[in-house]
Amino acid sequence: MLQITDVKVVYPNGNEALKSVSFTAQKGEIVAIIGRSGAGKSTLLRCVNGLQSSTAGTVILDNDNITSMSAAELNLARRKIGFIWQEYNLIDRLPVITNVLTGRLGYNRGISSWLGYFSPQDRDIALHSLERVNMLHRAKFRADRLSGGEKQRVSIARAIAQEPKIILADEPVASLDPELAVQVMGDLARVAREVGVLTLINIHHVELARRFCDRIVAIAQGVVVFDGKPEDLTDEVLDNTYRFDKDKYEQADAVVSKPPSAIDDLLIDLQNTMKQAGNPSAAG
Ligand SMILES: Nc1ncnc2c1ncn2[C@@H]1O[C@H](COP(=O)(O)OP(=O)(O)OP(=O)(O)O)[C@@H](O)[C@H]1O
Ligand SMILES: [Mg+2]
Repeated sequence: MLQITDVKVVYPNGNEALKSVSFTAQKGEIVAIIGRSGAGKSTLLRCVNGLQSSTAGTVILDNDNITSMSAAELNLARRKIGFIWQEYNLIDRLPVITNVLTGRLGYNRGISSWLGYFSPQDRDIALHSLERVNMLHRAKFRADRLSGGEKQRVSIARAIAQEPKIILADEPVASLDPELAVQVMGDLARVAREVGVLTLINIHHVELARRFCDRIVAIAQGVVVFDGKPEDLTDEVLDNTYRFDKDKYEQADAVVSKPPSAIDDLLIDLQNTMKQAGNPSAAG
């Protein structure tokens, strides 16, 4: 259903964010994408929704080639791609229900979209989506009155209201305290499973990825270094993902620590030589 093949992204300033990333994912799977800061996780999600064009490679979503679409085709494709941001991206001054209804905007055409008109069917879908994340009682609240956890639940509802083929979540719980992070991650995984939608989640919390996702894809140095079940995510894999340059640092440490010890050795040698030569200043 999602097929990412040899995706490479080089930014205009020459930064190579992704070298060659390939993996596939099926409908209903919940996949965590892990990797160090700067590993290219956000870049990869943006390639999947076409906000970032890839330098090489292809992204196929449900037989549609995202990488070769025109801007108009991408706009149409994106209505079926739900996105959840770390900072929620709700419209603060609008009520919760209207925020969720914006998930239906891609389905409205012409004058009705200009007037912000939503059909009774759209309203049903939006209310039902709010119910799924236990936020129906907040439907009329202004979005800016909600707590962080509530805001993220509303953005999950907005994504679900799109009736998407795929949900892309970029660090969805990074702004929440640890307890809320567990709850909201749990909500996201539960709702995604209930509606059976493929969900890719960029996440720094490895434990949350293990607990809530079906699969983990780890990216390091621009390529996939692990793709498997949470239980197969060993310490060695984590080293390859987060500490692949450990040796380099250890060597650097060794070089830094070498001069003093080398000088010490030289001094001892010198003292011994002077002692042997009977030089009194070498004593002690
Ligand atoms: N617009 C841009 N122009 C140039 N370089 C960029 C741009 N956006 C990102 N990069 C670089 O590309 C690399 C990957 O960035 P990306 O944001 O995808 O990483 P990430 O894995 O999402 O990191 P984080 O965990 O911190 O969110 C980084 O080195 C980053 O500095
Ligand atoms: Mg990122």
